[in-house]
Amino acid sequence: MAHLQVNNLSCSYGPLKVLDGVNLSLEKGQVVSLIGGSGSGKSTLLRVIMGLTKPDQGSIDLESQPIDYHSPGSVRSAREKIAIVFQQYNLFHNMSVLQNVMVTPVKVQKRPAAKVREEALALLAKVGLQSKSEVYPAQLSGGQQQRVAISRALALHPHILLLDEVTSALDPELVGEVLDTVRTLANEGMTMLIVSHEMRFVREVSDQVAMMDKGRIIEMGPPEQVFDAPQNPRTQAFMKKIAWH
Ligand SMILES: Nc1ncnc2c1ncn2[C@@H]1O[C@H](COP(=O)(O)OP(=O)(O)O)[C@@H](O)[C@H]1O
Ligand SMILES: [Mg+2]
Repeated sequence: MAHLQVNNLSCSYGPLKVLDGVNLSLEKGQVVSLIGGSGSGKSTLLRVIMGLTKPDQGSIDLESQPIDYHSPGSVRSAREKIAIVFQQYNLFHNMSVLQNVMVTPVKVQKRPAAKVREEALALLAKVGLQSKSEVYPAQLSGGQQQRVAISRALALHPHILLLDEVTSALDPELVGEVLDTVRTLANEGMTMLIVSHEMRFVREVSDQVAMMDKGRIIEMGPPEQVFDAPQNPRTQAFMKKIAWH
């Protein structure tokens, strides 16, 4: 059974068709990565899944139930199961690290604060930030802030985690620590849909890689196939280009 199934999804910004008949399936415990050039529609696909942008055609099933993007209740319950982390970590700067991780589970999910606190501390320990729980985001490096953002997403108990270029805003020497965190989650069986330009990482961590171009998935398969023996000329050109960098 697919955990998340995207069926013939299309989305436009005015006259611009940004997603054009996307089909994608994510099984429980699978890591699927979206690759492709800038503007190919990767972020829009994640935004539509989260209900941040409305699709104009097609459907998305979450654990075999269609998400109704016109129903706030349906979108809300989808967001209880799917969490997203963006390139810009968007932490609350007036809250401590611990408060950042606790605020939504306590205020929105109405879970008991003591239990949430215990979990939040365990999550921060897991990403190597236990000693930073009382500090404010401005006192952290970008890589540390991004790891807080990942902890904050995990505190929601998501069934599926979406990551949109979570290392792209970081200084190169801070990328590794964030990728280590994502790698740990993958090894623990977290179901993830990842957009990343870290191709070595994508290759290592993904079960399936989907290449996007002009709003379509033009090729999808296991990483060895898509990276080493791409079939589509556009994918071939993309792989040649990244090999030079
Ligand atoms: N809010 C928006 N309004 C109008 N056009 C947008 C908006 N967001 C994205 N686009 C356009 O949609 C296309 C796909 O963008 P995006 O999904 O961000 O691509 P990617 O993440 O692959 O770089 C691009 O042409 C982009 O300029
Ligand atoms: Mg993007």
